[in-house]
Amino acid sequence: MSLSGLPWEAYQALDADARAHHLMASGRPEHVLMAQQFRRAELDAICALATEIRLLAKSQPGALYLSQVLAHKRAMLYFTQPSTRTFLSHQAACQILGLQTGEVRDTATSSEMKGESREDSVRTFSSYFDLIIMRTKERGLAERMAWVLSQSERPVPIINAGSGQDQHPTQALLDIYTLQRSFETCGGIDGKHIAFVGDLARGRTVRSLAALLANYRDVSISFIAPEAFQIGTDVLTLLRACGVTVSVSDNLQAILPVADGVYMTRVQDEWDAEAGDSARVDVSRFHLRPADVDKMKPTAVIMHPLPRREEVPPEIDHDPRAMYWRQMRNGMWVRAALIAQIFGVDEAICAHIRDQAHGA
Ligand code: NCD
Repeated sequence: MSLSGLPWEAYQALDADARAHHLMASGRPEHVLMAQQFRRAELDAICALATEIRLLAKSQPGALYLSQVLAHKRAMLYFTQPSTRTFLSHQAACQILGLQTGEVRDTATSSEMKGESREDSVRTFSSYFDLIIMRTKERGLAERMAWVLSQSERPVPIINAGSGQDQHPTQALLDIYTLQRSFETCGGIDGKHIAFVGDLARGRTVRSLAALLANYRDVSISFIAPEAFQIGTDVLTLLRACGVTVSVSDNLQAILPVADGVYMTRVQDEWDAEAGDSARVDVSRFHLRPADVDKMKPTAVIMHPLPRREEVPPEIDHDPRAMYWRQMRNGMWVRAALIAQIFGVDEAICAHIRDQAHGA
């Protein structure tokens, strides 16, 4: 059953599993709102499709084919919180598939300044666009807007491109794609040990990626942070319920030699209750210095959702284990794959690739 016809209170009362069931009822995402809506089979399918699109886009005929696949659709980028990579990679993903895009990045230039509600703004976008990609500082707003649209006569899909401190599902998907590609020749993500480092209390990328990692077999996760920035107990409970081995500590040095992936994050001081609160926490022990990288496994990867500050100095960029620039580019392919799935053109793309391979 899709979201349409489901009262908001009933939707809110559902747990993440039941919400996921509604969002994926048709076998493809009706909306992309939270990491938990993706299970292992869906993750494998998105990664495989991202690779197909990536390879196809390398040739001019392939890129031309892709650029016509969704040329009859338009996407709205509604980003009221700062963004560089998520905005641009969604826009580039739309361009790859031929969607034209519009944008509102500053509500000071929209009718929200005249007192228009978010609901009315989003319904307005749905009149002109076939997909809404939104980033907001309010937790849960993408879900609320998806529900509003699902009850309207233009139930266009919503992609959550970051909602408050809570969810960033498309970042988690590109992180999974990066991990899968990185571990392709050494058993994939199953059995790996991933360490999250930095501001884990307020980093939405960490919360969403941790939820996705729970889909893999024998994964261990370490959360390395100062006490003030340590991961929420809700995430620990979710992971333990899925059988993930979790550890919580403030000792980065102990984890470096054993981790297969080190996921660094910056201090999220935009969420400080009082300006300067974060500055009182000593995070210097949670920075990765070149000497620390020497202690890591040769096959390990260093990831970061970016933007970075001091936690990953540019000297590390040249280490083959530094994956964050490739991670960023993977975001474009994963988002193109996701948009193709949302509009149901994934099978046509794969059929085209098969036909080309057989010289049809
Ligand atoms: C992240 C975000 O916005 O949550 N950035 C991103 O989308 N790549 C991480 C951050 O801002 O620290």
